[in-house]
Amino acid sequence: MLKTIKLIKEKDPAAQSILGILLFYSGLHAMIFHRIAHKFYKWNLKFIAQLIAAFSKFLTNIEIHPGATIGERFFIDHGTGVVIGETAIVGDDVTIYQGVTLGGTGKQSGKRHPTIGNNVVIGAGAKILGSFTVGDNVNIGANAVVLSDIPENSTVVGIPGKIVRINGEKVTECIKNLNHTILPDPIQEELCELEKKIKQLQERIHCEVCIRKEEMEKKLKEENKEK
Ligand SMILES: CC(C)(COP(=O)(O)OP(=O)(O)OC[C@H]1O[C@@H](n2cnc3c(N)ncnc32)[C@H](O)[C@@H]1OP(=O)(O)O)[C@@H](O)C(=O)NCCC(=O)NCCS
Repeated sequence: MLKTIKLIKEKDPAAQSILGILLFYSGLHAMIFHRIAHKFYKWNLKFIAQLIAAFSKFLTNIEIHPGATIGERFFIDHGTGVVIGETAIVGDDVTIYQGVTLGGTGKQSGKRHPTIGNNVVIGAGAKILGSFTVGDNVNIGANAVVLSDIPENSTVVGIPGKIVRINGEKVTECIKNLNHTILPDPIQEELCELEKKIKQLQERIHCEVCIRKEEMEKKLKEENKEK
């Protein structure tokens, strides 16, 4: 818990003092309750686990299923409306904001919720739905809806979530339209660049042909006039 308090102090410029964090950070309260509830869940005392989780939800407005596995230094900022499902797995050093859902689509059974890597930031209102993996060091934009695997070191935004950055580099327009579960793919990227160049060349040739045609027509007209 001390590590989490230290982290909140580092990450949140609004955090004034340790006492303030202890008293006012509902994300911290929810995590304390969750650590206890999860222990009961693992001891197969599921009713007690759910009782603790329900009490925590009543106090904090953050709903974490006692079965969810959550790593170290997990920071829920603001927290209102956060929902984390039973089979969700969250790595270390993950930060999430208010309104985030780590949920299921309703179409899967067994493992139904996402697995989140280490050092991931999930923006306010983002919904991560289904059993898939979000890689390490991923940024998920506010209000994004992510429905499939995300490779590490990338940024995802929009509905449905599209990768807009990989390793800090902007993803090209051509790549943007691809299914991001197969990214990163350097060969595909090269092919996209080639496709773009071919299109540009085709346009240039088309233009040259048009200009030539116009010139020829003009010449013919002049010749006809002279006759
Ligand atoms: C996505 C985010 C993490 C920025 O990541 P980044 O890697 O620095 O990405 P950039 O800012 O360079 O944005 C990349 C592109 O995505 C767009 N974008 C950024 N955030 C977006 C969002 N939430 N939804 C839709 N598009 C978004 C940008 O406009 C930019 O588009 P462009 O390439 O057409 O110019 C950030 O914008 C975000 O949403 N953070 C969440 C913060 C939050 O929830 N705060 C709550 C505090 S209470």
